[in-house]
Amino acid sequence: MNSMATEKPAYTTLAAIYDAVMEEVNYDFWADYIDALMLSHHPHPKTVMELACGTGSLALSLDELECYDIWGTDKSPQMIARAREKNRQRMCGVDFSVMDFLDITMSRTFDVVFCVFDSINYLHTPEEIIRFLNQCQKLLTPQSLLIFDFTTPVNSMEAINYLHNEEGITENNFRFYRSSTYNRDEQVHTNKFKIQKLATDQETVLDECIETHRQKIYTLQQMLAIINQTAYNIRAKYSDFEFEEADDESLRITMVLQCPNTQ
Ligand SMILES: C[S@@+](CC[C@H](N)C(=O)[O-])C[C@H]1O[C@@H](n2cnc3c(N)ncnc32)[C@H](O)[C@@H]1O
Repeated sequence: MNSMATEKPAYTTLAAIYDAVMEEVNYDFWADYIDALMLSHHPHPKTVMELACGTGSLALSLDELECYDIWGTDKSPQMIARAREKNRQRMCGVDFSVMDFLDITMSRTFDVVFCVFDSINYLHTPEEIIRFLNQCQKLLTPQSLLIFDFTTPVNSMEAINYLHNEEGITENNFRFYRSSTYNRDEQVHTNKFKIQKLATDQETVLDECIETHRQKIYTLQQMLAIINQTAYNIRAKYSDFEFEEADDESLRITMVLQCPNTQ
């Protein structure tokens, strides 16, 4: 990768091309999975908060089911700006706002709070995950659900085969390259994006930057040990997009928690 490109924080420039990079992701299917999870574990889910909602694709797919009042938040103002634009274009009714899930400032509760697509993997230590879980309590009642997923070492070993050396040109004239590496000893997965803003000829490079995304990859046992240090009860742990119990072979694990001590 060109070392002259400026390094930018994660999810700043990438926001402009995030949806193109994720075009293979079936958010409608994912929304149906979250919908099924909510209905199996909560008697009447109505109010829903998505943490780390990115450009809002999942929240907007969920909104189209016309069953929920949805709020989406993310730390990145650039991702939230895209989410709001899509909300307008699709004439949806999701509220989007900027919020760091490690510093929750909202003073209302929701029936369900969820945070998916590896967003928790941006937390690199057990202490940070415990802080996340403690912060989430502000949004929960004892009946509320906290649903989050994380990816495992099994997933990272597979994913580098198709993520590494990915490249593409987007409709809004960006070229991107992704390199993807996984350090097994440290359990750290690194995705490095080189993003070039192109002129309309799609040849001339106007600007170039790098975003480096480092994610800590957790085994099921590591995550269970962390959750056990908190006041949460584990209602379920599911493998991938199924209702099968997660195990050490799962690629993505979705946890469903409740916190009886929440005020
Ligand atoms: C892999 S993306 C997932 C986005 C979205 N959930 C989706 O399904 O497309 C990870 C997201 O986590 C957000 N994120 C990372 N750390 C965060 C934090 N501390 N608070 C809130 N959002 C955070 C990033 O800004 C990014 O939008």
